[in-house]
Amino acid sequence: TEGIVIAIDGPSGSGKSSTSKGVAKARGLRYLDTGAMYRALTWWMLDNGVDVHDPAAVAAAVERPVIEMGTDPASPTISVDGRDVAVEIRTKEVTGNVSAVSAVPEARALLVRTQRAVIDAARRESAGIVVEGRDITTVVAPEAPVKLFLTASAEARAQRRSREIHTGDVAATQADLARRDRLDSSRAHSPLKRTADATELDTTGMTLDEVIALVVTLVDEAA
Ligand code: C5P
Repeated sequence: TEGIVIAIDGPSGSGKSSTSKGVAKARGLRYLDTGAMYRALTWWMLDNGVDVHDPAAVAAAVERPVIEMGTDPASPTISVDGRDVAVEIRTKEVTGNVSAVSAVPEARALLVRTQRAVIDAARRESAGIVVEGRDITTVVAPEAPVKLFLTASAEARAQRRSREIHTGDVAATQADLARRDRLDSSRAHSPLKRTADATELDTTGMTLDEVIALVVTLVDEAA
């Protein structure tokens, strides 16, 4: 029997990663963080001197790095050419440049292909997989039986992200998030958007445990 796919999209700081990992752990599912893949590709471009603001240069280089992901929700891994880059992909430099790389169609085509292969493998080998990103409900897995669009107020998202990255400058974090959301939502290819058949979940006033419990209920209903 093939496993279930749970597709989760939403802006930065909406709680996608924590929620997705929590749900996957609760129900013995695999977990795929597609944002980490765009970050890994961006890290490689910067490390190899590719001008990330030149779409043709990015397009020409997308096939060079080998990006691999481990899908255990208790310890997800990401590597580039065999090197663990879990820490490197969270730097300010990568965060500030990832939207430029993720706007390049050739970069998206390559990573979407990899993501679908990971999803197919997980469905065959396990109970299913939770996949989170910006275009999962629209492009990567539009046929998923559970499709969610997570949101939260700009203030709540900035508070959460500031805690994650240990900064007291919530205003600067909020400005960074707003900039990235604007780029991710306005790009020509696979922009972040909510489809009519995705369940919107505003997590502003909710605790993480409440959000996880609610999503687990939706998963159980669909399974
Ligand atoms: O989820 P995270 O904030 O780590 O994603 C980093 C960036 O990767 C996003 O700002 C976006 O530009 C890109 N991304 C994307 N499509 C996805 C996941 C992430 O374009 N499915």
